[in-house]
Amino acid sequence: MKLAVVGGASTYTPELVDGIARLRDELPITELALLDPDRDRLALVAGISRRILAKAGHPAELSTPDTVEQAADGAAAVLLQLRVGGQAARHVDETLPLACGCVGQETVGAGGLAMALRTVPVVLDIAARVAAAAPRAWIVDFTNPVGIVTRALLDSGHRAIGLCNVAIGFQRRFAGMLGLAPERVALDHVGLNHLTWERAVYVAGEDVLPVLLERFGDAIAAQVGLPVELIRRLRAVPSYYLRYYYEHDAVVKEQMSAESRASQVAAIEDELLRLFADPTVDTKPEALSRRGGAYYSEAAVDLLAALLGGPPAVHVVNIRNNGALPFLPDEAVVEVPATITAMGAQSWPVRAVPPLFAGLVSHVSAYETLAAKAARLGGADRVADALLAHPLVGQASLADDLAARLIAANRDHLRWA
Ligand code: G6P
Ligand code: MN
Repeated sequence: MKLAVVGGASTYTPELVDGIARLRDELPITELALLDPDRDRLALVAGISRRILAKAGHPAELSTPDTVEQAADGAAAVLLQLRVGGQAARHVDETLPLACGCVGQETVGAGGLAMALRTVPVVLDIAARVAAAAPRAWIVDFTNPVGIVTRALLDSGHRAIGLCNVAIGFQRRFAGMLGLAPERVALDHVGLNHLTWERAVYVAGEDVLPVLLERFGDAIAAQVGLPVELIRRLRAVPSYYLRYYYEHDAVVKEQMSAESRASQVAAIEDELLRLFADPTVDTKPEALSRRGGAYYSEAAVDLLAALLGGPPAVHVVNIRNNGALPFLPDEAVVEVPATITAMGAQSWPVRAVPPLFAGLVSHVSAYETLAAKAARLGGADRVADALLAHPLVGQASLADDLAARLIAANRDHLRWA
């Protein structure tokens, strides 16, 4: 079975390859095609990836094709993990909104919109070429902002499913606290990508979230960066992305004097690339754990295994709403648990979502619809409309000002600007 990875020179690739090597019984990969325009970096990433496979005695052949068509040819699935503009563009996303008093984050608010504007056209172009070369291949999108990118892929008729590691991270951490194997822990996870809450944590059909909050409340609160009293009152654990909403002004103040995450990541990447270049390094370097993508490989391998003919399994994924959240349009993309088979994802019935969560979800979902449209069609007015619809922007002069600034800063990446 062939897997193609677009954005193959990402420093996350060795993490993915490590998962493929460890979970070979679950997902029998025979060929791994890594595609990336940065050929020098790809050579380093391919080098360590080959060494990881060899050390594990994994039989997969690793190739570095030149075109999307070559990468996709014969592939059962194509994983998208690219980043248009690299960490330099991310740095702008994280700092530009601060000048207007808004949070600087790569997937939230104005920064997330800028990322969507750069990314959606590139992804749609790649997906069209994948579909021509391998019409039955699944497109698994890890490229941020995942909700908007998945929405754009589905609107264009692609066989796509969006993936994020936030849910698997909670599952693994809760299982660790309870001393259980992760498979025994199921989450009532609801919302949109990077806007989710864990409302229940099921072990053998029983909700143990109250027990977790009782015994490990402080640790959980520290992990998501929110007060334990708030989490107990909500009776749900928000993801750490909710901090950008619930504590917006405090985050902006912190960000004013902090190094951007993009700068930190650029330094981690320099270190990682030096290690990848060392022919004696044949395991996933420890420095990778300083990136946010913990459990990415397990999430991806588990999902691919179920999509590609393995036993049906439950995973949290980004898919069309289709009634799962009745207060959203069917065509919205939501992040919920679903049963995954070779036919695709079937979401579970979702418990009623209370207004405290549903209000924000509706608001951001409407923004995502406008953001996907702005990214596909371009135009300063569409960009300003999306920002006007975002709960963290919402004022007309602010939306216009941010729209002008982010279009100017991203001009080289926007075909229409
Ligand atoms: C988490 C999110 C990803 C995001 C990553 C950022 O894993 O789910 O969507 O890309 O964090 O990590 P980084 O190390 O790049 O800050
Ligand atoms: Mn994510």
